[in-house]
Amino acid sequence: MEEYISPQVHSRFLQTCDIPVEEFTIKPFTMVIFGGAGDLSQRKLLPALYHLYHEKKLPSAFSILGFGLPSMSDEEYRKLAKDAFAQFSQETLDESLWEGFCRHLFYLSSDFTDDAKYEVLCNRIQEITTPTEDNTKEVIYYLAVPPAVGPIIIGKLAHYHLCRETFTTRIIMEKPFGSDRASATKLNNIVAQAFDEKQIFRIDHYLAKDTVQNIIFFRFSNSIFEPLWNRRYIDHVQITVAEDIGVGHRGPFYETAGVVRDIVQNHIMQLIALVAMEPPVGFGADFIRDEKIKILHTMRAMDDEYLDAFTVRGQYGPGKINERNVPGYREEEYVSPDSNTPTFFAAKFHIDNWRWAGVPFYIRTGKRLAKRITEIVIQFKQPPLRLFGRACDILEPNRLVLGIQPDEEIFLRFSVKHPEGTNKLYGVTMNFNYEDSFKITRHPPYEKVLTDCMKGDLTIFARQDGIEAMWAVVDPIIERWESIPALNFPNYSAGSWGPKDADELIKRDGRIWQTW
Ligand code: BG6
Repeated sequence: MEEYISPQVHSRFLQTCDIPVEEFTIKPFTMVIFGGAGDLSQRKLLPALYHLYHEKKLPSAFSILGFGLPSMSDEEYRKLAKDAFAQFSQETLDESLWEGFCRHLFYLSSDFTDDAKYEVLCNRIQEITTPTEDNTKEVIYYLAVPPAVGPIIIGKLAHYHLCRETFTTRIIMEKPFGSDRASATKLNNIVAQAFDEKQIFRIDHYLAKDTVQNIIFFRFSNSIFEPLWNRRYIDHVQITVAEDIGVGHRGPFYETAGVVRDIVQNHIMQLIALVAMEPPVGFGADFIRDEKIKILHTMRAMDDEYLDAFTVRGQYGPGKINERNVPGYREEEYVSPDSNTPTFFAAKFHIDNWRWAGVPFYIRTGKRLAKRITEIVIQFKQPPLRLFGRACDILEPNRLVLGIQPDEEIFLRFSVKHPEGTNKLYGVTMNFNYEDSFKITRHPPYEKVLTDCMKGDLTIFARQDGIEAMWAVVDPIIERWESIPALNFPNYSAGSWGPKDADELIKRDGRIWQTW
C-alpha cells in the first residue's frame, strides 16, 4: 500500500514549480549577417562571435556568412573581422585561436535587392552548413542593416523559400521596430508573413544586461522583498537612465527618433515592466513576456492635459562634460540648427492595477547629463509614527537601489541609532556588488543575445504584442510633443541633470530625484 502523505508533510518541502525550465543547447548552425561588413558587425557582432568561440561556447560545426554590399573575398572578410576585433574589443586576440575561428567565416557580396544572389545565398548556405542530428540545417539571419532594408530582405527570403521551408531558421532584428504603433504593426505583419513568432528574435539589448535580468531573479527568489513590493509599503519608484554622451555621428537617425523613440519606448518600458510585473507562472519566455505585457496594458492612458502636466521634454545646449567643452544638440553634425527634437524626457507614470494603484513611477532619461548611470530606486513609505520625535525630521526613507550600470550593485538604505547623542538617527547602507561577489567584470550583452538566439531561448527578446503595447504607451507623448514645438529649446546645459521642470515635476509631490 502506498504511504499516505498529508498536505502538511508536503508543505515542509520546498515547493518546486512543476513547469520544467527548458534546457537549451546550441546545435550546428550557420549565421547569415546581412550588413556583415557594416558598423554593427564590426563593432559588436564579429568581436562577440570570436569571444564565444574563445570561451568554447560555440559548437564545433558553425559558419558565419557575411552578406553585404562591399565586394570582398572570404579572405578579405576574415581580415576585416580581425581588424575590427583589434579596434573595438578590449581583449587581446589569441593568434592560434583566431586561425581556427576565421576558418568559420565566409562572405557573399551583393545588393540586398538582387534576386539572383538569393539563389547563390541558398547554395552557399547548403555548402557551409553541417546538418543537425535530426538532419535539418539550422540558419540564423541577423538583420544588421538600416530599418528600411529589413522588409526588402525578408520579402526576398520568403520568396526564395528560405524562411520556413528549406532550412530551420530564426531571424534576429534590431530596433527600431517601427516609429509608432501603426508602423510597428505594419512591420510585424510583413515579418509574420515570412516567419512564425517563435522564429523572431527582437533585440532589446537592455534585457541582455545581467543586472536587468537579475531584477526577476532578485524579486522572485527572495521572500523578504516580494511581500513589501506593492502599494502598501512602496511610496514611489524612480528610474533614471542617464547618459553623458551626446548623439555623436547619429544625428540623422536621432533627428527622426528623439529620446522617446530611442530609449523610452523600449529600454525604459522594459525596466518598468520588470519592476512592476506579477510573478510569472513559470520561467519560460512566454510566461514572463505575458506578465510584462499586462503591466504595459495597465499603464494609465495619458490625455493632453495629463501630458502637459506630468511629462517634461528637454534638449541639451552647450556645456561641460568631464571638464571638456561640448557642443549643444543643435550644433551636432547633421542636426538642424532649430531642431525640435527632444534629448531629455521625464514623466510621472501610473500603473492602474491592484498592486500599484496610487504608486507613482518617476522616469527620467537623457543625453549629455551629468554622468552615465542607470538606476532603479524603490522608495518605501515612512513608518506610521514619528517615535523618535525631532530626530525623525532627518529620517531618510528606506530605499532599495538596483544599480544597473556602471556600478552593478544592489543596496538598501536604512536608519540606525547614531552612537553619539541620545536618539540621533543615521542613514547607512547594506550593499551587494556584482564585481566584489563574483569577480566578473565582463557581461557583454551581444554575446548573451547571440547565444540565446542560437539556443532558441526567447526569454530576453520582445514579442510582437509587447512591442505594440509599448508604442501604445508612448504614442500620445510623441504626438503631443510633435504637434507643439518646444519654444524653450535648448533648455538644459550639457553636464547638468536636465531641465529645471524635471525637478519641479517630482518636487511638486514632495519628493526629489535620487542618484548615488
Ligand atoms: C541604444 C540607443 O538603444 O541604447 C542609444 O539607441 C543609447 O542612443 C544606448 O546610447 C544606451 O545603451 P547603454 O547600454 O549604453 O545604456
